[in-house]
Amino acid sequence: MAFIREQLFTGHDSVGLHEPSFSGREREYVVDAIDSTFVSSVGQYVDAFEKTVASFTGAARAVATVNGTAALHTALHLLGVQPGDEVLTQPLTFVATANAVRYCGACPVFVDIDYDTLGLSPDAVAQFLQQYGEPQTGERPRNRSTGRRIAACLPMHSYGFPLRIAELVSACADWGIPVIEDAAESLGSFVGQTHTGLFGELGVLSFNGNKTVTTGGGGMIITRDSALADRAKHITTTAKVAHRWEYVHDELGFNYRMPNLNAALGCAQLEQLDQKLAKKRRIAAAYSEFFARREWSNAGYQLMVEREGTRANYWLNTLLCPDRAARDALLQYTNDNGVMTRPAWELMYRLPEYRGSLNGGCPVAEDIGERLVNLPSSPRGELRT
Ligand SMILES: Cc1ncc(COP(=O)(O)O)c(C=O)c1O
Repeated sequence: MAFIREQLFTGHDSVGLHEPSFSGREREYVVDAIDSTFVSSVGQYVDAFEKTVASFTGAARAVATVNGTAALHTALHLLGVQPGDEVLTQPLTFVATANAVRYCGACPVFVDIDYDTLGLSPDAVAQFLQQYGEPQTGERPRNRSTGRRIAACLPMHSYGFPLRIAELVSACADWGIPVIEDAAESLGSFVGQTHTGLFGELGVLSFNGNKTVTTGGGGMIITRDSALADRAKHITTTAKVAHRWEYVHDELGFNYRMPNLNAALGCAQLEQLDQKLAKKRRIAAAYSEFFARREWSNAGYQLMVEREGTRANYWLNTLLCPDRAARDALLQYTNDNGVMTRPAWELMYRLPEYRGSLNGGCPVAEDIGERLVNLPSSPRGELRT
């Protein structure tokens, strides 16, 4: 507590979990967008924002959306997820992941995570498919216990820690199942040299106010596949056929395009991305040093660290407590003293909307859900470290 307040985040009465910071050209660009009158879904900032994200991540293309949830919905729709289908995903995630599946009329199936990534486990998925998968010729497999088509897999890189995505994509490819990566939290997280979100068919980013880069509200689809990107842009702009004056929409589309006003904020934020990521690594290093002390490690507290061969963005620093009582005591003490910490999200299959959803048995998620605490990680202000 004292460490967080007095050594890490000095000069703040209360310490938030992840607060936005605007120390670049945000005002200038937003005013410029207003002056241009292009405040809505067309404008130079949207195009520039997409190009810069594509270039930073190494994606062939990036398509900006109103938020990450809309991007997830679009991605699932694009890959043909239909009412009555099943989508394999993880129970430890923000509710938007499961909701996007529901928006397509499909059912999320919750499969377990790995301890060292907190993301969907390729082994658990392979095991699930071995047990329940029924191959179909020229089609995606069916779940033999429900008869439903397993239409997609939707893993999430929890708190910016990359999951074993190459192994997962390979396990799904064996069954002809396409993968969409929920990379909402992992801008700046890589596996080897490849940015998260670029292993599956489509990846999704979020630029919500609590993310490393914010556009107020915003999201993005990234992909290596230009044809899929063209389709994404088409259906996020109401599927309007380009014409100088006619209004023809050639399929069901969505009004999901990011407004230029938001993209203006995002362009200024991206100019500071490298500094923000560097600052976040300094925060992570300071936590690492602190929790390496014997009184913490002997008591069974363990800080999440990036796996070898990966680079995490440390969006939220994550501490695993020895048990639920220790977690609750830490949450109580810190929140009572103006330091915002948070537990894991309630596991998806415990929420009313998803209660009773099929799950493959998730002992790791159950255990992690009891013990996880997210620590303040804002890349703003002056750090003493
Ligand atoms: C894992 C995850 N998925 C999806 C979203 C949805 O993004 P948005 O809030 O931009 O709709 C978020 C965060 O906000 C998230 O953390």
